[in-house]
Amino acid sequence: MDMKTTKQSKPATQTKSGPQSDRHLQAGNGLSKLGPQTRAIHGGEALRHGVNGPVATEIIRTSTFTFSSTEEMKEWAEGKNKAYIYTRYGNPTLSVAERKIAALEGAEAAVVAASGMAAISSSLLAVLKSGDELISTAQLYGGTYRLMRDVFPNMGITVHHVQPDLCGIEKLVSARTRALYVETPTNPTLRLVDIEKAAAFAKKHKLISLIDNTFATPVLQNPIALGYDIVVHSATKGLAGHSDILAGVSVGSAEWMDKVRHLIINLGGSMDPGAAFLLIRGVKTLGVRVQRQCENAMAVATFLEKHPKVEHVHYPGLKSHLDHELAKKQMRGFGSMLAFDMKGGLPAARRFCDRVRLFLMAASLGGVESLVILPIYSSHYNMSDEELKRAGVSPGTVRVSMGLEDKEDLIEDLKQALE
Ligand SMILES: Cc1ncc(COP(=O)(O)O)c(C=O)c1O
Repeated sequence: MDMKTTKQSKPATQTKSGPQSDRHLQAGNGLSKLGPQTRAIHGGEALRHGVNGPVATEIIRTSTFTFSSTEEMKEWAEGKNKAYIYTRYGNPTLSVAERKIAALEGAEAAVVAASGMAAISSSLLAVLKSGDELISTAQLYGGTYRLMRDVFPNMGITVHHVQPDLCGIEKLVSARTRALYVETPTNPTLRLVDIEKAAAFAKKHKLISLIDNTFATPVLQNPIALGYDIVVHSATKGLAGHSDILAGVSVGSAEWMDKVRHLIINLGGSMDPGAAFLLIRGVKTLGVRVQRQCENAMAVATFLEKHPKVEHVHYPGLKSHLDHELAKKQMRGFGSMLAFDMKGGLPAARRFCDRVRLFLMAASLGGVESLVILPIYSSHYNMSDEELKRAGVSPGTVRVSMGLEDKEDLIEDLKQALE
């Protein structure tokens, strides 16, 4: 092999996160006209039609990349050449995942990260600096809440919490308010924030708007189209979908994503290429998985709502849910997550969780296996009664993540566990 020729061959075009061919399905390349499932499968990938070409994306399992000359290195250092240099800065497998998820969310760019919390913390820190104030929904994933409660005050960032209906939010705005962060549906009680209303409020007050879209996934809602600046995901969940990797992603304009990438690179929260491969593979089946999970969740929620041992079911698909009308307006399905409060509180909820067989007792969500968990012992551990009340979590709350099993089997399992 002529090593010199191989080493010097240059990619057709180059982007901020590394080289790529011009045959990727991405913005400006007819991508926006394709349906979401087609984008999930082909988005961000090379359209490979050559002989012996792999269909699956390769894992570029390397920490570092070669240069062919000092001139090339110099150009990279001067920002004239955006080649891959080191996987913490970018890697071709990560770039495919980023383009694919950006395509699915209808955004200009995306940055993948080692976990959802790496994406969330880096996105918030790309926006906030010492002295700034943040308004956030009080009902949040526990880790995000703890970041705001335990870490941000030490950095001089003040956080004000608002309920998902955004009631009284005007009073929380000051000259120092810089951003609005919401999660919808919320973890674990499935309350909804009106995305359009929140985005309009942020625009009116010149705030940067960030949203955690983990529970809905891009299949059910696309906040960028509704006016949001930055969308974050725990890609550990539905996007990857098989409970086998930790992953996060932040999505938005190229300008914002450059800022987020700077933080990911310098705080060290970069994704591993092996995880990126599993994320790419998972996203391809996201649409069919979410559809099935929504059907299972509706069947289980309807069953639980009629059960005499259940006090209340939290599922946006039920007419009894406070935000049912809003869910119909802003979501394309009611989601894979539900929660319910047991009559008899914590002892009854523990008995139930100790008895389920098909449902596995585990944290996390969005995988193919159905899971149950007690939020007070998992996402919402280490919170005062006051904090739990504000988050809408009671000791007897059980959170359910619907998998893809047959719904009849799942309901049989619930019946035996409740009796
Ligand atoms: C809604 C939501 N956002 C963010 C996270 C954090 O993601 P990760 O565990 O991938 O860091 C979680 C994790 O459970 C979550 O449920």
